[in-house]
Amino acid sequence: MNRPFELDPTEYPFNDRWLPYRDGRIHYLDEGQGPTVLLLHGNPTWSYLYRNVIKELREEFRLIAPDYPGFGMSKAPSGYRFTPQEQSEAVQHLIRQLDLKDLIVVVQDWGGPIGLNYAVRHRNNLRGIVVMNTWAWPADILPMKLFSLAMGGWPIGRWLQTRRNFFAKVIVPHGIHYAEKVTVSLRAAYTAPFPTPKSRIPTWVFPRHIRKSRTWLADIESNLPNLHDLPAQILWGTKDSAGFPLEQMAKWQTHLPLNETEILEDASHYVQEDRPDRVAAAIRRIGKRTRGGILI
Ligand code: BEZ
Repeated sequence: MNRPFELDPTEYPFNDRWLPYRDGRIHYLDEGQGPTVLLLHGNPTWSYLYRNVIKELREEFRLIAPDYPGFGMSKAPSGYRFTPQEQSEAVQHLIRQLDLKDLIVVVQDWGGPIGLNYAVRHRNNLRGIVVMNTWAWPADILPMKLFSLAMGGWPIGRWLQTRRNFFAKVIVPHGIHYAEKVTVSLRAAYTAPFPTPKSRIPTWVFPRHIRKSRTWLADIESNLPNLHDLPAQILWGTKDSAGFPLEQMAKWQTHLPLNETEILEDASHYVQEDRPDRVAAAIRRIGKRTRGGILI
């Protein structure tokens, strides 16, 4: 299968994999050998977000990084609405089809709800979790509610996303702390999946569903106690432009009591771009702390 857009091969030196999904297909990376790590992205990113983590760890781990339908190089099936529920089902399809076991799940942004929806129901298939600047409950802070209204609203939010490609062009560069990391090739990689107004609809649906998916998010939250014994690393970028204050990190610390937490004063929302070295270290740490899904 040909790539739908060109990429700098030194930045993304990986083999493309494709999994049929209804009448669409999921693009994913499956690099390296060792304990299995599932890397889940948010809006409007894709497996590219994890490229530096994968390059650092592929001699030690098997790293699986999907692009959700409508993101990156994946193609959505017909009738797909790009809701977080559907994206979580697509990820579960991938886990089942690849028969992934004893997972270290890594989540950030919408990867949190999407991955946690799986995690709370499949504790026995988890070895540990790495959590960065995300949530898995109905939005309870004003900045997130306002963000949803502004970015996922109608008509301004829809116009910003579909006509201006605002998420890919503006929010991503602002969500990276180190200005020098926002290179021409990085900007190209995050805008290329969204060449037309129609292709950008998924980037509008995600912020919209901070409000529209409250019931689904509440259900995930009510099941978070299933993860009380899950080894966890929490990495928190304090310069998050998307409004994830430390109180949200404290909520994760309560829900995941077996956590070790690292606060990153030099990371914004896209922690994987600012500090891929610390993301890799957190995954290694889960590997060291656990055997068979429990602490050693
Ligand atoms: C989003 O819906 O795209 C989003 C949610 C939380 C933080 C940043 C982005």
